[in-house]
Amino acid sequence: VSLKNFNTFGVEANARFFAEINHEDELVELFMDPQWQQTERLVIGGGSNLLLINDFNGLVIRMNIRGIEHRINHDEVFVEAGAGEVWNDLVNYCVQRNYAGLENLSLIPGSVGASPIQNIGAYGVELKDVFHTCRAFEISTTKFRTFTKEDCGFGYRESVFKNELKGQYIIVSVKFSLFLIPNLNLRYGAIEQELANRGIAAPTIKDVSQVVSHIRVAKLPDPSTIGNAGSFFKNPVITAAEFAPIYANYPEVVNYPAGDGLVKLAAGWLIEQCGWKGKVVGNTGTWKNQALVLVNHGGATGAEVYNFSSQIIDSVYSKFGVKLQREVNIIG
Ligand code: EPU
Repeated sequence: VSLKNFNTFGVEANARFFAEINHEDELVELFMDPQWQQTERLVIGGGSNLLLINDFNGLVIRMNIRGIEHRINHDEVFVEAGAGEVWNDLVNYCVQRNYAGLENLSLIPGSVGASPIQNIGAYGVELKDVFHTCRAFEISTTKFRTFTKEDCGFGYRESVFKNELKGQYIIVSVKFSLFLIPNLNLRYGAIEQELANRGIAAPTIKDVSQVVSHIRVAKLPDPSTIGNAGSFFKNPVITAAEFAPIYANYPEVVNYPAGDGLVKLAAGWLIEQCGWKGKVVGNTGTWKNQALVLVNHGGATGAEVYNFSSQIIDSVYSKFGVKLQREVNIIG
C-alpha cells in the first residue's frame, strides 16, 4: 500500500500491511490475532509529524475513529473526540460554540489522537493546558485504559507515549476540559500585534482563532500544496552555562527563559544564522518564511530530506555548539 497520501511530507513509501480502524472494537479484533502482536507497527493519524525514509516492512494502522461529543458542567465544558478526528475540525467545533481553550491551537495539522503524543503547542498554549484524559488501547493485553494528565508525563513536545510507553498504547479518544467563560491567552506578541492591526480591542474566541490562522498561513507552508511536517526540529533547551558563550558571541540570540535556569533557543533563528533560510537543495530545502520547517519541493525522497536535516544539524552545531533534535518522527 502506498503511504504517499498518508504523510504530509508527500514522500513515496510503501507499507507491507495496512489496516484502517474506524471503531475501537476493531483494535481488539486485530490484536487478538498473535501475528499482529509480533509485527512491527506504525500508527498514523494525519501523518503530519513523520518522515518515511524507507518502505515500512510492517503493519501501518491508520486511526479513523470519528465523533465529537460535549458535556457542559457549570462554567466548564468537557469535549471528547475520536482519535481520527481532524484536529482543526475539533478546534472549529469548539470555536463555533464559544468553548474556550483550543483557539490558539487553530490550524495545526494532524489528528486528535496524535495531539497528546507530542503535547502539541503553539502561540502560548500547549495541549496539556486543556487536556483532561485520554482513552488508549494497550496492545499487549487488548484492554483499554484511561490516562490522566499526570499519567501522560507531558513536557515540551514530550509525553509518556513517546518515551516509557512508546509503541505500547494506541490512543482512541481524547477528552478536553474547556471553558464557557474565556480566559484568552494573548501573550504571544504576534497575536497582540495582529489584533491591533485589525483594531480589535476586546477579542472573542473567534477573533483569536482567526488571527492565529492568519499568522500560521503567513509563516508556514500549506502541506496540501508543499509537503512538510511543520517544525522539523525542537527548539533546543540549554543550561545557563551553555548559553553564556553563545550570548557573548551573539548578543542578539533569540532566547526565552525555560525554568530552572534553563534557556530555550529558537531553532529557526539558529538555522537562519547558518544561512539556510529559504535555501533549496535538490528537491528539499527550508521554508522561505520559517527556517525551522523543511519542505518537499516535489519528488523529494524521505532519505533526501533526512540527509538535508543532518547537514543542518552539523552546521548549527559547528557554529553554535548546539545539537538540534528532530521533532518529526523518523520512520525507517
Ligand atoms: N526565527 C528566525 N528565523 C526563522 C524562524 C524563526 O529568526 O526562520 C526566530 C524569530 O525571532 C521568531 C522566533 O524564532 O520570533 C520564534 O519563531 P516562531 O514564532 O515562528 O516559532 P518557533 O519557535 O519557530 C514554535 C513551534 C511551532 C509553533 C510556533 C508558534 C516548535 C518546535 N515549534 O516555532 O510549532 O507554531 O512556535 O508558537 O516548538 C510545530 O511544532 O510543527 C510547529 C509549527
